[in-house]
Formats: sequence, structure tokens, C-alpha cells
Amino acid sequence: SPRVLVIILAAYLLGAVPFGLLIGFLRGKDIRQMGSGNIGATNVARCVGKTWGVITLVLDVAKAALPVYLASRLAPEALREVLPALAGLAAFLGHLYPVYLGFRGGKGVATAVGVYLFLCPVALAINVIIFVAVVAKSGYVSLGSLLTSLLMPALVWFTCHSLSVTLLASVMALLIWWRHRENIARLLRGEEKSWRGARE
Ligand code: G3P
Repeated sequence: SPRVLVIILAAYLLGAVPFGLLIGFLRGKDIRQMGSGNIGATNVARCVGKTWGVITLVLDVAKAALPVYLASRLAPEALREVLPALAGLAAFLGHLYPVYLGFRGGKGVATAVGVYLFLCPVALAINVIIFVAVVAKSGYVSLGSLLTSLLMPALVWFTCHSLSVTLLASVMALLIWWRHRENIARLLRGEEKSWRGARE
């Protein structure tokens, strides 16, 4: 139905808004040319400042959480279960492959958080605790992202018992790992960049 297509397209177009890049521009910086070159909250924290990084995180979470929430409210009865997950996937793909930036987007971790906020908040809460512990101990956001994205399908399965959200988590984990391939290489070489920036 047209309503379903509009929801998915709107989710993609919202997910594709590169808040990190825009916030960098606001501070006179193109974060694609600095730090890791990524357009996400981590690189904003690293290159622009912690507060701006947190603002990027909140906006990138919201741009996925909002379409998932709206999809759950607006879905026709037959698609109650699957449309919110599809809207989440569309927002996530928007962040990774944004039409506004020649399809060169980010790594999807904050956007994934927004996807899970309404789809499986218990699994998300468990993973947030693990993420914070790993990042606090190692200093590497990428390590927390890789570990928690890997755990998410099982966490979703055992806490939310939803096949569609478990499949979604599996697809998102694969794409998050793929987008972190340079981080993985740096971690293995012992050359990964801390989120704290160059000075520390
Ligand atoms: O969410 C992205 C994070 O896992 C890594 O970011 O800038 O260190 O490549 P960055």
C-alpha cells in the first residue's frame, strides 16, 4: 500500500540526514577530513568536542527511533509486527548509504541504538551496559560497537523472542562489521584511535 511505501521512504530519508557532518560544519570543520573520517558521534567527539559528540549521538538515535515509533503507530494491522522493523532497517541503511552524500555514510551504531529503542529496549539496555564497560576500559568505541553488535541477535532472541527483530539485528551486525573493517585492521595492529582525540 502507498502508506507503507511512504513510511519506508521517509525512514530512509530521515536516516540519511548526516547530523554529525552538519554539526561539524556548524563548528567550521569537515569531519570527513579529520580523525577517522567517519561522520558519526565518535568522530565528532574526537574532532569537535565531547558535548557535540553527545548531541550527534542523540540526533542519530532519534532519527531512527522516530520512524520506528511512527511505523508501529501507523502500520496496517497485517504489518504490525514487521513494518516497524523495516522502517528501522530503512533508517539504518539511510545512515550507511545517504543519498545526500553520494551514498557515502557512517557506521550505523548510534542509528542502530535508535532502531532498538522501541523494538527491543531490554536487549538494548543490556548492550549499553556492556558497551560502556568495554569503551571505558579500552578507550576504543569501535571495540564496543563490534562486540555489542555481535551479541545483539542473541540478546534480542532471548529477551524479545521476535524472529523479525532477530533477523534485523543479524543484518545490522553484518553491515556494522563491514563498515568497521578499517577499525578492525587498526585494532589488530594496535593502532586504533581513541575517542578522546589526538591529545591523549
Ligand atoms: O560508531 C562508530 C564507532 O564504532 C567508531 O567510530 O570514528 O572511531 O571510526 P570511529
